[in-house]
Amino acid sequence: MTSTSNPKTLTGDRIEELQQIAGDHMFMHAAQINDWRGSLKIYVKGDGVWVETADGQRYLDAMAGLWFKAAGYGRTEIADAVYAQMTAIDSPPAGGSTIPQIELAGKVANLYPDHGARSFFVSGGSEAVETAVKMAKKYQIINGRGGAFKVISRRYSYHGGTAMSVSLGGSTTADPMGPLMPGAIHVTNWNSYRLPYEGDPVDVAIKCANEFETVIQHQGSETVAAMIAEPISAAYGVQVPPEEYWQRLREIADKYDVILIADEVITGFGRTGEYFAPMNWGVQPDITTVAKAITSGYAPLGAAIATKKIADAFIGGADETFKHLITFGGHPIASAAALANLAIFEREDLVGNSRRLGPYLFDQLQSLYSHDIVGDVRGGLGLLAAVELVADRPSKTPFPADAGLAKKMPKMLFEKNIVTLRAADVITICPPLSINKSEIDFIVNAIDGALTELEHDLGI
Ligand SMILES: Cc1ncc(COP(=O)(O)O)c(C=O)c1O
Repeated sequence: MTSTSNPKTLTGDRIEELQQIAGDHMFMHAAQINDWRGSLKIYVKGDGVWVETADGQRYLDAMAGLWFKAAGYGRTEIADAVYAQMTAIDSPPAGGSTIPQIELAGKVANLYPDHGARSFFVSGGSEAVETAVKMAKKYQIINGRGGAFKVISRRYSYHGGTAMSVSLGGSTTADPMGPLMPGAIHVTNWNSYRLPYEGDPVDVAIKCANEFETVIQHQGSETVAAMIAEPISAAYGVQVPPEEYWQRLREIADKYDVILIADEVITGFGRTGEYFAPMNWGVQPDITTVAKAITSGYAPLGAAIATKKIADAFIGGADETFKHLITFGGHPIASAAALANLAIFEREDLVGNSRRLGPYLFDQLQSLYSHDIVGDVRGGLGLLAAVELVADRPSKTPFPADAGLAKKMPKMLFEKNIVTLRAADVITICPPLSINKSEIDFIVNAIDGALTELEHDLGI
């Protein structure tokens, strides 16, 4: 077996060998082994929005990795920053810190609407959610509300893969794991295409938000620590709420002293055209969870960002200490990557690009309504969009599972040289924020072509 190789010059034999090892010894996350064994895509190069596989195929990554490659591929200055930190001091002795960790905390506070904010750095999104929820519960204890342990979240949302975050996710597709976290309570999620209630969308959104209040009243406000939601639920197919929704969540949280957590693991750092999504609606959450785009995926890092009001409660004595520890949370080389990444954000105005080109992407996607199987095009707020496919547009009837969209659609899109991960009934589009108009046109044309083929395949 070859132990090292130049990733850019793989031979057919070497590719076969790698496929064999992966097929025999690897789990892919949330994937059936039989579905990828022998045909795993092995990527060897990336540049901007483009990636290349070991067999020399080029694809436009319309999903920015898994919603994270905000600055695009091939940023050597991030690699340089990581190298410099790793060769200076890769990680500090216990109880100490390093320059990039400190600078990153300052940078995040600078970008966050509450400049007094304090960050607890972790290694990814699930840990950020765990941290935020533990912080909220401890905050309630410090403030004399020790019985407040319940957390309200929304059905069909996604907050991570660890036990507590799965409990909050309310997904119907996660593996069953027995009883959820005690105190995890779910309410109706917002869905702009299939409104959960009849009526004017803004009224329905407020009604959905009011379900948090109903639960708080029913459970007793003294038992509820926090409520958590994604500003735009990507897991639920990119659901952009009207601004009144988050404004109402803020009012409810204030009324009952419940901590409002915005899970911005996908939306944080520019995806919606603002650094943080609730800024679009003039809302300041109490704690914000971030990961993914903070490093553009060049290294694993996440954070629970607490407003000054929340963070200051943890300044005091032993009783006020936040006794939470993740060994590699905010690792210095990941922090160095984050700083170099955020420097690119500022230099190239990637958040402005997201704000300017989001509407362009959304407008171009409207042309797909020429396909009868397109039921809904969602997005418009930054570079995040979705196209939902239906068997019948007037009745919004979904395709039956045996139509096989879950497998056909990603394959057809690959054949048009774009990568989308979640393409089935809902094709999500979340490109690097560095994308330009002609690359957006490439994505839209590819989807257009793939839909024509799908219709042909389905005999429509
Ligand atoms: C909203 C949200 N929260 C949390 C997570 C978990 O993040 P991670 O996979 O980095 O643990 C995700 C992952 O996609 C997410 O979308």
